[in-house]
Amino acid sequence: MTTAVLSARPGAALRGRIRVPGDKSISHRALILGALATGRTTVSGLLEGEDILATGRAMQAFGATVGRTGEGEWTIEGHGGFSTPAQVIDCGNAGTGVRLIMGAAAGFPITATFTGDASLQKRPMGRVLEPLSEMGVRYEARDGGRLPLTLHGGALKGLTYVLPMASAQVKSAVLLAGLNAEGGVTVIEPEATRDHTERMLRAFGAEVIVADREDGRHVRLPAGQALTGTHVEVPGDPSSAAFPIVAGLITPGSEITIEGVMLNSSRTGLFETLIEMGGDLTITNQREAGGEEVGDIVVRHSALTGVVVPPERAPSMIDEYPILAVAAAFATGETVMRGVGEMRVKESDRIALMAAGLQACGVEVVEEPEGFMVRGTGAAPRGGGMITTHGDHRIAMSHLILGLAAREPVRVDEPGMIATSFPTFASLMRGLGGDIAEG
Ligand code: S3P
Repeated sequence: MTTAVLSARPGAALRGRIRVPGDKSISHRALILGALATGRTTVSGLLEGEDILATGRAMQAFGATVGRTGEGEWTIEGHGGFSTPAQVIDCGNAGTGVRLIMGAAAGFPITATFTGDASLQKRPMGRVLEPLSEMGVRYEARDGGRLPLTLHGGALKGLTYVLPMASAQVKSAVLLAGLNAEGGVTVIEPEATRDHTERMLRAFGAEVIVADREDGRHVRLPAGQALTGTHVEVPGDPSSAAFPIVAGLITPGSEITIEGVMLNSSRTGLFETLIEMGGDLTITNQREAGGEEVGDIVVRHSALTGVVVPPERAPSMIDEYPILAVAAAFATGETVMRGVGEMRVKESDRIALMAAGLQACGVEVVEEPEGFMVRGTGAAPRGGGMITTHGDHRIAMSHLILGLAAREPVRVDEPGMIATSFPTFASLMRGLGGDIAEG
């Protein structure tokens, strides 16, 4: 972690074509499933961010051989199971990493101790430990469910689990544990969440049965399934594309193309919302790559209008509310974001930090327990804030994007954390003409 400061200054229109790094969710899963599988898995387009590198090291510690053969090109030799690691598993900043890996490890007769950085040590792990304990896992955790924690895996019972919150991480942890549970598992999600684990389990040869019923989506993983190594092509991360897209919408004169963005409908809530706000977003060159729909997104500067975001859209854009709030600060009228209490347990309390950061930049924000409202005037906000990011990459990037189009520069602390998910963020934005610099 660095204590340097990064600042974004208002300036020129943003123009050009870029490609954002590989999807973070798919990158974690490729490494974990590759390590659980038997044989060789090859990955292209892997996100080489800190979160993913931590998952790679963890897979190595559990006994897989993980190697890099080129930019974004990785191989994993899996042995069909995890063995007891010699060291503590440090997942860094990655909630997805630690929760999915705990699920994956749970079904093997091993003991492993997990930890993470200061942010991850504050985040709730009980949401994963509860279903895993019902399946037979034992653990010792700090404060009833915080890292560092030690997990004892072993013979697991099957489980039918109704997700108490819309969380793909919890769903995925139960499914991965279910690979080694007697009778398999069924996860019922009242609100559908991203389905990358289900898709990738199938790509590795497992049967996953999905049925939409009255009480929600039923995802069933039958017992006794083995995974076989395969090739995974990781498409561009829509959650990273979100930053240059909003930059293009709010910076006068801009036109940007972002190539190869994943368009899985469980992830595109932000794009839908921006179009409803009047954003000029066009999707071209739609195609399939690596089992996912991808396309190129062309974005042009647009006059935006505030909207009420339907709460049921939250799972498909949960990581995108910070940057949506920035777009809302440039729109005319109120943008209302409700049903997003989960934002408070991400890498930081994102509702509180976006409210504080936007207010420091002269934007009117009303905070609620499970949501917030941003009131834009249709003109560029003042900017000029020094933003405390609490080490949250998306809080840092959102405010830097705001600074590119505000009236005064915006500075963020702990910008080194941007490397967890989008290590090329500053250089890509500079390449488009954005003035982002140290200091
Ligand atoms: C993720 C799921 C989301 C998201 C996170 C990645 C995943 O978290 O915020 O960045 O890869 O499954 P929850 O499932 O906990 O909402």
